[in-house]
Amino acid sequence: MMERTFLMLKPDAIQRGLMSEILGRIEAKGYKPVAMKFMRLPKELAERHYGEHKGKPFFPGLIEYITSGPSLVMVWEGENIISGMRVLMGKTNPSEASPGTIRGDLAQQTGRNLIHGSDSPESAKREIELFFNDYELQTWDRSVQPWMIE
Ligand code: RTP
Ligand code: MG
Repeated sequence: MMERTFLMLKPDAIQRGLMSEILGRIEAKGYKPVAMKFMRLPKELAERHYGEHKGKPFFPGLIEYITSGPSLVMVWEGENIISGMRVLMGKTNPSEASPGTIRGDLAQQTGRNLIHGSDSPESAKREIELFFNDYELQTWDRSVQPWMIE
């Protein structure tokens, strides 16, 4: 099923100069970029984005981390991309994430795990609408698509 997901390269990915490394993996998979914005999340937006974790012990630290510098917020499209990106990202705790995954290869701690990806179609819809207006989402065809999706 063709889907869209919301992805965010968190401030540690930007600080560490890992944008091209991570974007390269997503692009090489054949997923299609739909929208991108480089921004430092205002606290209120970060709290809404991570609303499901409000009240948990790690919440204040999470908000501090995620608002500590610019992030790259994005929408990407692809066949089953929501679960596919969770696989590419690896487990939330990088010390348990498999080699070959973004977190498994590039990160050490849960609190510095480089990337966010929506965890369900409902989350994807909510998060895309939270960060982007309709006119910011590009609908476009890639000539190489038939070589990846039959
Ligand atoms: P994300 O939402 O960022 O894509 O990560 P996730 O689904 O894999 O994990 P989730 O459970 O949604 O947690 C959101 C983010 O909160 C931070 N966290 N810290 N110190 C802790 O125990 C802890 N637990 C979660 C991580 O940055 C995690 O990605
Ligand atoms: Mg999550």
